[in-house]
Amino acid sequence: MEISASMLACDFSNLETKIIKLKNSGIYAFHFDIMDGLFVENFSFGANFVKFARKYVDSIFEVHLMISNPLKYIKSFADAGADIITFHLENADSKICYKKCLDCINLIKNLNKKVGIAVNPSTTIEKIFPIINLADLLLIMTVNPGFGGQKFMNNQIEKLDILKNNKKNKDILLEVDGGINIETAKIVKSHGADICVSGSYLFTEKNYKLAIKNLKNP
Ligand code: DX5
Ligand code: ZN
Repeated sequence: MEISASMLACDFSNLETKIIKLKNSGIYAFHFDIMDGLFVENFSFGANFVKFARKYVDSIFEVHLMISNPLKYIKSFADAGADIITFHLENADSKICYKKCLDCINLIKNLNKKVGIAVNPSTTIEKIFPIINLADLLLIMTVNPGFGGQKFMNNQIEKLDILKNNKKNKDILLEVDGGINIETAKIVKSHGADICVSGSYLFTEKNYKLAIKNLKNP
């Protein structure tokens, strides 16, 4: 299992040093949580921040869009240096509109970026089936999106089992986001997660190398 660092939990002072230190400590990817105060009740940062971070490393950049109009902003995040652009299945006023999902997927693919699709805890996983094989990555939310530092929701784990059995393409990555620590990393790893996102746990540990090693092999 690989680890992706949620920059939402990063204290941005000495950003360059922290990003390079994470890379040298074996981080697989950097995860940027984009929040607009509408789709979720919090604000974070925009494409400019991704662009600044991109100056320091050539690592994989995942952008997790928790915004009400993802289609409008996908290109700016692609231009800023994202490799994987993840939008929410629930992208139409917290409801599912497959037409909007397909528009996002087509745009991301046309920009030569990888497609991620995120699923909220309250959404049944079967809802992703109509578009599952168009994704490169499926992001299972194990907290309600909006804030770091929340408690892992155990009742989301079975979604990993269901996805493993239903994705035809073995290359589609399963990623888990929210409330990851050593204990929960162990659970999601045993249920087949390929990547887990870590924010609060990783950034409160001073020794990134040890924290990443412990999360990878919990
Ligand atoms: C929640 C975000 C997560 C979050 C993870 O909306 O998508 O990426 O920042 O942070 P922790 O690890 O603190 O739960
Ligand atoms: Zn996230």
